[in-house]
Amino acid sequence: MISLEKLTKVYGRGDSRTVVLDGLDFSVASGEIFAVVGPSGAGKSTLAHCVNLLERPTSGAVLVNGENLSRLSEKQLRVARRSIGTIFQADGLFSRRTAAANVALPLDYLGATPAETKRRVGELLERVGLSDKASSYPHQLSGGQRQRVGIARALALRPSILLSDEATSGLDPESTASIVDLLKELRDDLDLSILFITHEMDTVLQVADSVARLDHGHIVESGALVDLLRDADSDLGRALRPRRDWEAASGADGIWFVSYEGRHVRPDWVSLLGAELGVPISILGASIERINGVTVGHATLGIGGVDPARVTGALAALGLTATLDDAALRPESDELEDVA
Ligand SMILES: Nc1ncnc2c1ncn2[C@@H]1O[C@H](COP(=O)(O)OP(=O)(O)OP(=O)(O)O)[C@@H](O)[C@H]1O
Ligand SMILES: [Mg+2]
Repeated sequence: MISLEKLTKVYGRGDSRTVVLDGLDFSVASGEIFAVVGPSGAGKSTLAHCVNLLERPTSGAVLVNGENLSRLSEKQLRVARRSIGTIFQADGLFSRRTAAANVALPLDYLGATPAETKRRVGELLERVGLSDKASSYPHQLSGGQRQRVGIARALALRPSILLSDEATSGLDPESTASIVDLLKELRDDLDLSILFITHEMDTVLQVADSVARLDHGHIVESGALVDLLRDADSDLGRALRPRRDWEAASGADGIWFVSYEGRHVRPDWVSLLGAELGVPISILGASIERINGVTVGHATLGIGGVDPARVTGALAALGLTATLDDAALRPESDELEDVA
């Protein structure tokens, strides 16, 4: 478990003083993947450096399993750091060492016996699905495989926390998906707390249990991923599910943006809605998927000739929230409603 308490990091003094992290408070439980998203310069990497204490916070605390790391001496810190495994965008492997020798580094450093090291490296490479690549050098591995070696190395000292700063950024979608699957397995099998920093919203949808948006050193919004996705008023939820262009409606139709709000929306809700309202419903765009065991969906519908309050009411009864496209509320569209 990681907890941040009013974590603040300031760089520079006087005129050049910049508050990069401004009193961050959040926790990542064991068995949870917590994603932090935010634009370039938001402070994400600074956050990573403060959590693994490569940087000392200016004020506030980082607690790992209840222990306040910010108070430790350098010597104590070296020990405490073992509970935090880190993976970065650049895999940081040594090019002249094989995959096995790279994974062995932290164990060598701690003075493990050759037999212990061999056994543990074997376990770790198997864990990340690379047993057959033990004697390959980094240049003989794909980007995704190199990142897996990096993960194996990060796990060598049995950390309870895994910190990932843009570890999938720059990988192709297939490699990203395989890293994401591995991280979820590690979360479940080893009960890790994973702090997953990224600027890729698509990856957040695949990996996160919870997500926070960092902007100018503040957490501006956070919550469980599925809650944010189903909250029609959530900016972060919207950013995670960018609205695509939709098919044109017939002139008489109002355009409705619909999202799944209830946990149990029936799959045949469009037919039920049509039957209830007694008018044809056009599906102009839609996406429905299972995320963390919950169905999350959004649809753009064309519905004409019905009082908007009836549409909203019928949708609410089906577990859906809806908003009418603003353009349909502009005066010039009154004519269209008359026609309908
Ligand atoms: N050592 C430092 N000294 C002074 N300023 C710094 C230092 N490190 C980072 N900063 C500043 O802190 C801010 C946040 O940087 P950070 O690297 O944390 O952003 P980020 O969210 O990781 O961005 P990106 O998505 O581009 O990786 C930036 O304005 C940066 O210039
Ligand atoms: Mg960064």
